[in-house]
Amino acid sequence: MPGQTTRSGRARRRAPARRYNRIVPNILVTGGAGYIGSLTTYQLLQRGFEVLVVDDLSRGHRQNVPPHLLRVVHLQETAALAPLLAGVDAVVHFAAFIAVGESAREPELYFSNNVGGTLSLLAAMARAGVKRLVFSSTAAVYGNPETIPIPEDAPLAPVSPYGESKLIVERMLRQLDEFRGLRSVALRYFNACGALPEAGLGEQHEPETHLIPLLLRAVDSGEPVKIFGEDYPTPDGTCIRDYIHVTDLAQAHLAALDYLLEGGASGVFNAGTGRGQSVMEVMRAVEEVTGRKVPYVIAPRRPGDAAELVADSAKLRRTLGWKPVRSDLHRIVQDAWEFYQSARAGASRP
Ligand code: UFG
Repeated sequence: MPGQTTRSGRARRRAPARRYNRIVPNILVTGGAGYIGSLTTYQLLQRGFEVLVVDDLSRGHRQNVPPHLLRVVHLQETAALAPLLAGVDAVVHFAAFIAVGESAREPELYFSNNVGGTLSLLAAMARAGVKRLVFSSTAAVYGNPETIPIPEDAPLAPVSPYGESKLIVERMLRQLDEFRGLRSVALRYFNACGALPEAGLGEQHEPETHLIPLLLRAVDSGEPVKIFGEDYPTPDGTCIRDYIHVTDLAQAHLAALDYLLEGGASGVFNAGTGRGQSVMEVMRAVEEVTGRKVPYVIAPRRPGDAAELVADSAKLRRTLGWKPVRSDLHRIVQDAWEFYQSARAGASRP
C-alpha cells in the first residue's frame, strides 16, 4: 500500500484531510487484520488518514495489513495499548469474536474477549485522553424482532452470548458518554458480504459459517451446501437477510468518523441497506454469476436464526449522509467470487 512512513511507523500520505481544521487525523484501528477491519483500514489510507492497526492475529490475517502499520497486541494488554494511543484522534474498534454458534458453546470466551477486551481498550483510551470511538455492533442485539424493517429503537433482546456481548458494550458506551465525555458511534451491522478483489481483501473465516462463501465453496467443490430451513414464514420459505457490501459498510465507518471528528453526538445506527433477500435469491445470484448450479440439501433450521432481519437504515442515511453504492446482490456475489478464486489460486500455489 502506498504511503511514506513516519517515525512513529504510521503511513503519511499527501492527500488533504478534507474538511478538518487540524492536520491529518490519527486513527487507531483494532481488529484491522480481519475482514471488515482490513477493508476499512484500506479506505482510511486511501482517504489520507494516518492509521495504526492493533490486532492479535487470533482470527485476522497478517497479510491484510501493510506490515509497518501492524502492532500485534492483545486488547487485554492495557499497558501495551496505552502508548499506541498517544496522539490518536479516534479509535475504530472491530476486534471481537463474531461466530454466533461458537458463542453459544463458549459464552465465557465471548464475554472475556468482546466485553473484557473492549473494557481494557476503553481504560487505555481514558488514560490517553482519546474521546472518540466507532464501535462494531450487530443486528444480533435485536434477537427476533417484531417489526421489519427494524428501527434502532426496537426492543433489544439478543438470543446469543455474541449479541449480548455487543449490547453490553453499547451500554458501557452510553455510560462513558455521560461520565467520561467519550463520543461514540455504534454501527449495528446486518449481513456484511462481498470483497474488494482489486485490493486482495475479502472474507476468509475459519471455519466459515456465512452463506455466500459457503455457496461459492459448494459451486467450486461440488459438495452440497446445507440450506437451513425452507419452512419459514417468508415468500419462498427461506430466511431473509439484509446483505450489505463490505465496502459500503467500510464507508459507513468513514462517515461515522467524519461525524465524530466534526463534533457529532454519540449515537447508534443500523448499518444495512434496507432491502431483504432470501437464501434462495442469494443462491440464484450465485448461479447467475458463476454460471454453475449450486449443489444443496435442505437441512433443519439452524437454532437462533430469525426468519427476517432487514435494517431500517434511514438514520444512517439522514444523519451520516451515507448511502450504499456497491450493495447490489450481483455485484456482491461477483466480487466475492473473484476474491474466492484468487484466494484459492494463492493457497494452491507452492
Ligand atoms: N445459511 C444457510 N446455510 C449455511 C449458512 C447460512 O442456509 O450454510 C442461511 C442462514 O440460515 C441465514 C442466512 O443463510 O438464513 C445467512 O446466514 P449467515 O450465517 O451468512 O449470516 P447470519 O444472518 O446468521 O449472521 C449475520 C452475521 C452475524 C450477526 C447476524 C445478525 O454474520 O455476525 O447476522 O443477526 F450476528
